[in-house]
Amino acid sequence: MQNLPIKERFAVPVSEVPYERNDWKKGYESQPNEYDYWIEDIEGEIPADLKGTLFRNGPGLLEVNGQRIHHPFDGDGMISAIAFNDGRAHFQNRFVRTEGYLKEQQAGKILYRGVFGTQKPGGWLANAFDVQLKNIANTNIIYWGDKLLALWEAAEPHRLDPKTLETLGKDYLDGVLESGSAFAAHPRIDPCCEQNGGEPVLVNFAIKPGLSTTISIYEFDQAGKLLRSHARSVPGFAFIHDFAITPNYCIFFQNPVSFNPIPFVLGVRGAGECVKFQANKPTLIVVIPRNSQEPVQILETQSGFVFHHANAFEQDGKICIDSICYESFPEVEPNSDFRQVDFDAIAPGQLWRFTLDLTEQSVQRQLLENRCCEFPFVHPKHAGRPYRYLFMGAAHRESGNAPLQAILKLDVTTGEEQLWSAAPQGFISEPIFIPRPNASQEDDGWVLTLVYNAGYHRSDVVILDGRDLNQGPVARLHLKHHIPYGLHGSWTPNVF
Ligand code: CO
Repeated sequence: MQNLPIKERFAVPVSEVPYERNDWKKGYESQPNEYDYWIEDIEGEIPADLKGTLFRNGPGLLEVNGQRIHHPFDGDGMISAIAFNDGRAHFQNRFVRTEGYLKEQQAGKILYRGVFGTQKPGGWLANAFDVQLKNIANTNIIYWGDKLLALWEAAEPHRLDPKTLETLGKDYLDGVLESGSAFAAHPRIDPCCEQNGGEPVLVNFAIKPGLSTTISIYEFDQAGKLLRSHARSVPGFAFIHDFAITPNYCIFFQNPVSFNPIPFVLGVRGAGECVKFQANKPTLIVVIPRNSQEPVQILETQSGFVFHHANAFEQDGKICIDSICYESFPEVEPNSDFRQVDFDAIAPGQLWRFTLDLTEQSVQRQLLENRCCEFPFVHPKHAGRPYRYLFMGAAHRESGNAPLQAILKLDVTTGEEQLWSAAPQGFISEPIFIPRPNASQEDDGWVLTLVYNAGYHRSDVVILDGRDLNQGPVARLHLKHHIPYGLHGSWTPNVF
């Protein structure tokens, strides 16, 4: 079983595939327009006590004036904001006016190379030795310290006006970052940090790659003021997109990949296409104490690739970390079209629990969910703590790799599951769980997700009841247009 090629182990007969490729592909059409309106076309009812703003980020343009970008990760960041108040909802979207977006829109052509293989026209000669990348601000969006920040991991955040989504410029977090500094797109919020008097703290990191990798850790209070920062060096190249926290640790997976920059510098490949998976090497788990006086520990586990972690917690002297793990890195090929991807040739992401014993320096791993899944989300008060319920995007079918069409709720203590699927023509985005005010149960709240529906080529904001996904949406808010498949977002109780 273990040695069969991915295609034979996970493939699903074509007749049973619950979606049409052409439907799925349409969700990658650009959305060049910017809207601002009250949502009127609603099925069901918006819960009266759902109050706040859902912010989403993701590539809004998949081309520049008809010149296609090579990979969606290279698309210009577009922010959507859906504000809920008194049973009503308002929609707004704006592109982040990055320097690159403005210059390319003005020129009407691609001027920058993308990390994931987008090249300027003119072949390798036009691209050789141009290592300047565009800060595309397309990965996540957070509201913290009275600032709305669009994040892209390789450079500084862009600040936006939360009411109008107007771009205010690059933000250096009150002098914490320098020009061009990296700042990851996956901050974590410690809901009650002991070192901050039990108040919430935003923890984030920045990667400086090289022969050895520097990982900087930053912790900010609710006003956005830096509380602590420290930088640690780990051996080797690291491609790290996300991390997990517990009250005492930051945990990183150093996936077994190598980086050969020569084809990138010579202009024949994007930087992301120079990352090669090393199946014969272990994944390294880097455990960095949040207390800067304590040493870093590095543990080994079986080879695999992780983009996203669901959660981590400390229990019985051990650290548990739940992560979506792929058997290998889905490499980006230079002469391929992502719309033609062979899902069966790529291993699905699956949820694993890694249990770290720092005393014994050992790692145990256990499969928690076999179904293809991504974009895990837990109750915000349980971040870094023991938890029971996990919400994730998932494939419609139990086996095989496929686009995300369903929202899966997993009880990690019993293995019990609930599922709501938007198949055959619906394709979901990251689910965000919002606790109901004064709720006492961990799953008492709403799950919000954007669903692209190929049947009418528009997107819906879908609201599910976290206690029972099986019953289907509480409300479905039909937007007047589609939103291309996005990446990450967040919720704030502030109504903008
Ligand atoms: Co991510």
